[in-house]
Amino acid sequence: METKIIRPQEIEEAVNAIKKGKLVSFPTETVYGLGADATNEEAVKNVYLAKGRPSDNPLIVHVASCEQVTPFVSNISEKAQQLMDTFWPGPLTLIFNLKNAETLPSVVTGGLETAAFRMPNNELTLQLIKESKTVLVGPSANTSGLPSPTTADHVYQDLAGKIYGVLDGGASFVGIESTVLDMSQENGVPVILRPGAITKEQLEEVIGEVGMDQHILTEKEAPKAPGMKYKHYSPKTPVIMIDYKTDDWQEAIDSYKKSNKKVGIMTNPEKKKLLKNYDAYYELSKKYDVVEAMRYLFAGLRKLDDSKLDLDIILVETYPETGAGIAYMNRLKKAANQKIFKK
Ligand code: TXA
Ligand code: MG
Repeated sequence: METKIIRPQEIEEAVNAIKKGKLVSFPTETVYGLGADATNEEAVKNVYLAKGRPSDNPLIVHVASCEQVTPFVSNISEKAQQLMDTFWPGPLTLIFNLKNAETLPSVVTGGLETAAFRMPNNELTLQLIKESKTVLVGPSANTSGLPSPTTADHVYQDLAGKIYGVLDGGASFVGIESTVLDMSQENGVPVILRPGAITKEQLEEVIGEVGMDQHILTEKEAPKAPGMKYKHYSPKTPVIMIDYKTDDWQEAIDSYKKSNKKVGIMTNPEKKKLLKNYDAYYELSKKYDVVEAMRYLFAGLRKLDDSKLDLDIILVETYPETGAGIAYMNRLKKAANQKIFKK
């Protein structure tokens, strides 16, 4: 299969492909999704195959309006409605109880009695969903385990030959996946299962207390959100974090150079100016800024993982774990397999 890059003005081609049960990657503000008709079981099965994703990890259902959620779920609470009014379209996924287990193919939900819904903030993709007259599954359009794609080109690198096409909507401006909030315990406190650009504080401003479950599971533990148990986002080249508190960039570079390793660094120009003897540099942010670093984290990991650079190690800047820093550090820690440089 030859995978097509579909330009915005050719969107009808993407619509027709989705209607026929084919796979089309779509742009969103967070990362690119791998789209398929969520009500077409065969199509959804092919999504798992294309990604090489374990099929007990449920998918997010992408909608273009709140009305598209209603037929599937048992109830939309007042809090959930307030969140949708405030943050949709945007990087927030909400987990609801299903009306009955058969409303969506079980390949979408991983057999759970709940399902995840999100309205992405991207005009092209909203149009794609509307014109397809259905709702779309959309896991990140990467090969399972690799960093999520934030450009059409990243999707192409991972999935060329495996999917019908990629709708090219330019680079994603958030850069990491949506915040996932579990609203299924209707009398309990909603819990963040995956941190994202919309922070706990922003959610609490709208609905009051919100919990956070970002325990990174070891292989033997049973996951609360199935997606929590898989290693994610890692490039092939090992990643090491540089603690912003100790700031030992040069010590880290020197120690790897001593054992003849090729070192890439992901940081800002001010820091870079102070460093020497590294082999490659990626500008993660112009100034030390976590929102910008979040936008370029996955793109940078992919760039420095390029086999032409032949790096042995990638060093990446860290941020305090508050506000948006929680989501940034959640992804970076997974990419680095928790490894932080120690003198
Ligand atoms: O920003 C995003 O959310 C992107 C873009 C493309 O929209 N999509 C994305 O999808 O990240 P995916 O499939 O890579 O991640 C879905 C996450 C997984 O961690 C999964 O375990 C969780 O949502 N999830 C889905 N349904 C769930 C459910 N019923 N209960 C708990 N977690 C669920
Ligand atoms: Mg993913």
